[in-house]
Amino acid sequence: MKEKIQSKNLGVFDSGIGGLTVVSQIMKVLPNENIVYFGDTARVPYGAKSEQVIIDYSLQIANFLMSKDIKMLIVACNTATSVAIDALTAKFDIPVIGVIKPGARAAAETTKIKKVGVIGTYATVRSDVYSKEIQKIDPSISVISKPCPLFVPLVEEGWINHQVTKIIAEEYLSPLVKKGVDSIVLGCTHYPIIRKVIQSTVGNKIKLVDSAESTALEIAKTLKEKKILNTLNQTPNYQFFVSDFPHKFDEIGARFLGRKLENVKRVQLN
Ligand code: DGL
Repeated sequence: MKEKIQSKNLGVFDSGIGGLTVVSQIMKVLPNENIVYFGDTARVPYGAKSEQVIIDYSLQIANFLMSKDIKMLIVACNTATSVAIDALTAKFDIPVIGVIKPGARAAAETTKIKKVGVIGTYATVRSDVYSKEIQKIDPSISVISKPCPLFVPLVEEGWINHQVTKIIAEEYLSPLVKKGVDSIVLGCTHYPIIRKVIQSTVGNKIKLVDSAESTALEIAKTLKEKKILNTLNQTPNYQFFVSDFPHKFDEIGARFLGRKLENVKRVQLN
């Protein structure tokens, strides 16, 4: 019985393929786990959509993943986490983990001068969830947030080390540097891909906090606590579902996952 629940899937979703940066970390930290991923590539980006629409889409996706025999739901999207995590947690009786609490915890541990920057989509910044979570941990930490919406299309275009990306990074990030933060949360699943440009723009004294890394560690901790960690030591099964195969899907997907994307199927949600 216990073996059966252990070998169930981790259900992971994102508004598109950005969440594959989280999947890549999960694969590293939890190499035994079976994973089923859904990327809403037909409806991405969520970052500029209204709260109600983001909640509706997230519930549809979670219902689909529940049909795939999952033992945990992972919201690998900062935007969906900031808006829909409460609705998801209330609706499903399996553990639901988002990327924001682990990222907030990591930021609170990283800052020495209690001044944190957060970058993300408009919806994530508007929700103010990072500030709330960081200040729940330590109310004396001040949080300065900055939407960086153009980073998402730049990453998708593959302009990882491009002059234009550097100019835009300078424009977005110099106000945070001027305000004297000592750490910046990469509050969007696309941003780890341009981590090097972000780091060189803000300088080495500012620490970057990757919520993908801290989320994978949080998942491992919860699986152990709930005694549902997969210890069976079999080759894991990875399934990927998307709502569309957009232009350059394979190339961009491989960039996010750090390996070739295989076994990808298209499904239509309604
Ligand atoms: N994956 C989303 C996030 O982490 C960014 C892309 C979008 O706007 O949908 O916030």
